[in-house]
Amino acid sequence: MGSKHGNTVVSFRNPAPRSVVAIRARDRGISMRPGEALALLNLTLPPLSGERRRLAAAHTIAEFRSIARRRLPRSVFDYVDGGANEEHSLRGNASAIRAWQFHPRALVDVTDATTATTILGHPAAAPIGFAPTGYTRMISPLGEPAVAAAAARCGLPYVLSTMATTSLEDLARDPGAGETDRWFQLYVWKDRRVTHDLIQRAADNGYRVLEIAIDTAVSGMRVRDVRNGFTIPPQLTPGSVLDIGLKPNYWMGMLRSPALEFANVSGGTAGSDEPGGFTIDNISQQFDPAVSWDDIADIRERWHGKLVVKGPLGPDDAVRAQELGVDGVHLSNHGGRQLDRTVAPIDLVAPVRAAVGPEFSVFVDSGFSHGDDIAVALALGADAVFVGRAYLWGLVAAGAAGVARVGSLLTTELRRAMQLLGVTSVEQLRAHGASLVQRSAGSAAPHTVTARTGHTP
Ligand SMILES: Cc1cc2nc3c(=O)[nH]c(=O)nc-3n(C[C@H](O)[C@H](O)[C@H](O)COP(=O)(O)O)c2cc1C
Repeated sequence: MGSKHGNTVVSFRNPAPRSVVAIRARDRGISMRPGEALALLNLTLPPLSGERRRLAAAHTIAEFRSIARRRLPRSVFDYVDGGANEEHSLRGNASAIRAWQFHPRALVDVTDATTATTILGHPAAAPIGFAPTGYTRMISPLGEPAVAAAAARCGLPYVLSTMATTSLEDLARDPGAGETDRWFQLYVWKDRRVTHDLIQRAADNGYRVLEIAIDTAVSGMRVRDVRNGFTIPPQLTPGSVLDIGLKPNYWMGMLRSPALEFANVSGGTAGSDEPGGFTIDNISQQFDPAVSWDDIADIRERWHGKLVVKGPLGPDDAVRAQELGVDGVHLSNHGGRQLDRTVAPIDLVAPVRAAVGPEFSVFVDSGFSHGDDIAVALALGADAVFVGRAYLWGLVAAGAAGVARVGSLLTTELRRAMQLLGVTSVEQLRAHGASLVQRSAGSAAPHTVTARTGHTP
């Protein structure tokens, strides 16, 4: 016979006659099988598969992070986890979000609360998206296709990075990613033919939204990577040889999977065809530090789908993007990985919303790791929140199932926050936002981000 406990089927083909519970029950003249005794005790046995066990153990994004920390080599974990310079932005992002407190509405019927929304005109199960992250197959060999498949399962958009380890063509062809709302994140390259080629390929392969990242004129200084001697792909050094013994599963996964490459730019007109072993620094030397608003105007003419600009944009820059016909801004400091001491993007949401009006799309990321965080951003005027590290931790913990669990965890947390706040829809949360959140008394006032007079050149 079998008995179901949580996700686990416990089999008792050979019931243990010496089971204490069973013997005591028999002594009292009660006939009870061991499986029934377990059910009575409400005993849940841990799942046997490693992936399912890890999923069952992770109840928060912080727990997914702890699992990823145990499974990844130190240098790879630090590459994902770390920020630029002294990591002020990295820490500041999270603390700025948590400086907001809720002030809920009382006695509202929230039975039918839903997180369903539209993001740039496309239906989404929640106002949440998976942000672009480079080198994903280095973090898990399942890589970008697993993230895209999970995004489809959750009904959330996924932004493929220019620096992906799966090409935009391969991802578009991947059966798991068929239904995904696929966006493409573009870096502007010194060789504009590379930029234009990527735009054309994104259009040819059905990417719905083009997102231009503008915060990477040069790459941020990631001190942890320098200290760890980190390269992409990871190299065999005395340190990593030791690591093979400590993290054999990671290294076996890497050895079994195809060689890592910057799949979107490793051939053809893509200027960077150096023979592998790129460091973050030398690949990013291909990005153009001279990128300007003229490029945004040029790309607007070439790209006929929705266009978003991603970076730490203040109200003036957001208005300028709007005037150029851009469809939305994605307020981001790259998760604290570029310019250190950048204003936390959560503190840009309200002033940018005030400057661009109610219809223009405003997205935000950097430091979000709970549905409550997302509720704060929506209350301040954002249309959706993107996450980077959170889904990467899910990917390391349990592949596509882990990413999907992160998506559903954030969605469930957001829905509960909405219900406890007394709102039943994303529109209501936005409409009542100003009265639903307040800065906590002990926190410093947010950095005041006001419109400058005129545009910066
Ligand atoms: C490992 C890693 C790689 C990233 N690669 C890119 C990238 O290729 N392009 C990009 O626009 N942003 C990239 N980002 C930034 C994310 O898109 C996003 O802005 C950031 O992760 C949000 O912060 P969070 O990790 O706190 O959620 C990367 C972030 C991480 C953690």
